[in-house]
Amino acid sequence: MPRRLRAFLCLVATAVPILAWTGPLTSFVLVGDSTAANGTTPNSGGWGNGFCGSALTGNIASITPDTPCINTAHNGATTGSFVAGGFWNISLAAIEGEVAKHRRTFVTIQFGHNDQKIAPPESMAANLTSMVQQIRAIGAEPILVTSLTRRTSNANGTVADTLGPWADATISVAQQQKTHLLDLHKASIAYIEAIGPDAAHRLNRLPDDYTHLNVNGTTVFGRMVADLMSASFPGHQLPIVPNPPLTFNITHGIPSF
Ligand SMILES: *[C@@H]1O[C@H](CO)[C@@H](O)[C@H](O)[C@H]1NC(C)=O
Ligand SMILES: *[C@@H]1O[C@H](CO)[C@@H](O)[C@H](O)[C@H]1NC(C)=O
Ligand SMILES: *[C@@H]1O[C@H](CO)[C@@H](O)[C@H](O)[C@H]1NC(C)=O
Ligand SMILES: *[C@@H]1O[C@H](CO)[C@@H](O)[C@H](O)[C@H]1NC(C)=O
Ligand SMILES: *[C@@H]1O[C@H](CO)[C@@H](O)[C@H](O)[C@H]1NC(C)=O
Ligand SMILES: *[C@@H]1O[C@H](CO)[C@@H](O)[C@H](O)[C@H]1NC(C)=O
Repeated sequence: MPRRLRAFLCLVATAVPILAWTGPLTSFVLVGDSTAANGTTPNSGGWGNGFCGSALTGNIASITPDTPCINTAHNGATTGSFVAGGFWNISLAAIEGEVAKHRRTFVTIQFGHNDQKIAPPESMAANLTSMVQQIRAIGAEPILVTSLTRRTSNANGTVADTLGPWADATISVAQQQKTHLLDLHKASIAYIEAIGPDAAHRLNRLPDDYTHLNVNGTTVFGRMVADLMSASFPGHQLPIVPNPPLTFNITHGIPSF
């Protein structure tokens, strides 16, 4: 993990825990594919449950309980199918609902896992750009997130990554559109390589599912997203509840499970 990122995350880790949220009214809406989606059976889904909280994951959340967090991410979605399938309209309605309540509304957008199967990165980038612009037009704040890595390894222990060009495309859109960016792809690769394949595979939804997460995986990566978000908004009051021991494990490459 880059030193600067680690320093930021350690800062987050030492922040005073928030007991009752008294900062600006804030809401989150999640847009993306299954690696962010709301797992609706035990040990399924992506990082969203560990971020928003879910009864299926022991209500472990990375944000205060009174903060609305609406997970509209959809299994199997590309940026194109998300729109064509009507899920984007569902997201927009949810975002408009939160903005109408005068809440600062953050919208995370994370695609790549399925887009990479159908089109070059430029296609996803064009679609992400449109999403960013539409989110801003209705008064919310887009946050681009690079793809959670798969947990497949090369023989030498490095992650066998194929999502790099799609992560790079997401980073380019963030730079061009001047949005916040959470480089989950980079941070998750660093952590997976640090803990090694056996510990990495204990986070799998099923033993041979290297993409989706079980309850422990969503706890870890929901926390990682929350910490990347805190680091991306220095000086802002976000309703993120620190979890210093888990952040310590993540930033020091220690398996928690
Ligand atoms: C996830 O789905 C469950 C079941 O449909 C729902 O009760 C819950 O509100 C959803 N969570 C989020 C964060 O959207
Ligand atoms: C981007 O959206 C267009 C429709 O506007 C669609 O044709 C294309 O397949 C999408 N790209 C991806 C990677 O989903
Ligand atoms: C989404 O909403 C727009 C505007 O109401 C509409 O034109 C479009 O057909 C909708 N898309 C889908 C897939 O339903
Ligand atoms: C590990 O193996 C992969 C795949 O063979 C290779 O691309 C990569 O350069 C290797 N990395 C190191 C540090 O040896
Ligand atoms: C951190 O890692 C240690 C060692 O694996 C583990 O015992 C502990 O429960 C972890 N803490 C959290 C909060 O995950
Ligand atoms: C999650 O971690 C706990 C504590 O190590 C363990 O008891 C449990 O079996 C793990 N859950 C899964 C689905 O692997």
